[in-house]
Amino acid sequence: MDIKKSYDELISRVKEVSILSSCSSILWWDQETYMPKAGVGHRSEQLGLLAKIIHKKFTDPRIGELLSELENSDYMKDKESVEAVNIREIRHYYDKQTKLPEKLVVEISKTTSLAQQNWAEARKKSDFSIFAPFLEKVINLMIEKADAYGYEGEPYNALLDDYEPGSNVKEIEEVFKNLKTEIINILERIKNAPVKPDPKILEGNFDVNLQRIFGESVILSFGFDLNSGRIDTSTHPFCSGIGPGDTRLTTRFDPNRLSNALFGLMHEAGHALYEMGIDKTNHFGTPMGEAVSLGIHESQSRLWENQVGRSKSFWKYFFPQAQRIFKQSLSNVDLDSFYGAINYVTPSYIRVEADETTYNLHILLRFELERALLNKELKSSDIPYEWNSRFKKYFGIDVDKDSNGCLQDIHWSGGLFGYFPTYTLGNLFAAQFFEKAKKDIPDLEQQFEKGIFSELRNWLKENIHKHGQRYRANVLIEKVTGKPLSHIPFINYLNRKYSEIYKI
Ligand code: CO
Repeated sequence: MDIKKSYDELISRVKEVSILSSCSSILWWDQETYMPKAGVGHRSEQLGLLAKIIHKKFTDPRIGELLSELENSDYMKDKESVEAVNIREIRHYYDKQTKLPEKLVVEISKTTSLAQQNWAEARKKSDFSIFAPFLEKVINLMIEKADAYGYEGEPYNALLDDYEPGSNVKEIEEVFKNLKTEIINILERIKNAPVKPDPKILEGNFDVNLQRIFGESVILSFGFDLNSGRIDTSTHPFCSGIGPGDTRLTTRFDPNRLSNALFGLMHEAGHALYEMGIDKTNHFGTPMGEAVSLGIHESQSRLWENQVGRSKSFWKYFFPQAQRIFKQSLSNVDLDSFYGAINYVTPSYIRVEADETTYNLHILLRFELERALLNKELKSSDIPYEWNSRFKKYFGIDVDKDSNGCLQDIHWSGGLFGYFPTYTLGNLFAAQFFEKAKKDIPDLEQQFEKGIFSELRNWLKENIHKHGQRYRANVLIEKVTGKPLSHIPFINYLNRKYSEIYKI
């Protein structure tokens, strides 16, 4: 038996699937950016057909045969070798894909499509009762899906694995519990702080074309490469790594605020730098050419957006430029006030508009509710009451309407249970990676003050990006920082920042 031949066959089959997937990605990108509205029907047929072909190709029993053969070969001796990693991770996806009965896949797709329509209407009317019966159906399907995958402990573990492979509720719960206590403590101190920044100074006239030029210059300095990337506008900003030499991000501009587009751009650029840093030339289409998890992906976007983009040293370099470009709105603002304003902390209803501290409470609340729903400790009709009472407890404010509360996010209607924690995991990974980067590059902040980000970017590439899926997230964080994931680097980072801004 020629084992090399078997490995090559496995890789060539999986690569074909990835090339087809990247065709879906480009169609989806086009739909979000340039496609005329009336094309939506045909586009969903194109995407539907591709999804069907992809699923059929990837669940071909031949892949299972090849995997079984290769798992007993010498390739597995070195667990960190390219071959062993690819075999391990392809097995992981293959098992998951083949465990889901086709009937369930079709049922989930139909139900979530209906649920999304009804969610949109419910949100518009701020009437949870419109969405409740559909949410109930989605939850039941999610429980069925978890059963089909199989799990230890609770069903949430099975669903979480789609987004954060290898992770589990117990690990996350422990970290989140400590995080919650610390964040509530920080918020209490900020509430009673002697000084507070004025976020109103961020409002003004910010010409959209100038915003584009300024934003581009920022992310080019981070290392975003226009030879292998594009920047476009879309309603919902995103980043898509299409394939080798092709990574695309989008943003949206608000002519009255600089911060929305700018931080959004830095965020997506962080995702893009990750995609660009993976060795796709050699590994595209295989797990070694893919990102580790959503949490690690989000850590890269959050690191550039927050640890870099909301730092004083970054703005020491960029603020004078911003003042020259946006003379009318920024000439009377000083660096310290601006720095305070972009780091202003306040409880608010909407997750996507939240500051980097309260943001995590939004996630913790969703994580708790999702688990309770899947464990059948809560009925979907309990959600508005449970949401609002927990919100009051954590944020200290009453939710005025469901569209500002439990109806704000699209995730549940789309069947994305287990997704939310990856946002907060991203924040925690980011702080822990950045703390280590600062240790390894002692003059990092002085480099930022000169507009130099290449050393940080290379550090991320060497330590994280280039490994593809060689390590699972919990292994990677220990490999890179020497410690398992913890809330402490993030809390230390916030405390350092707020002691300066709020004098607490
Ligand atoms: Co993101």
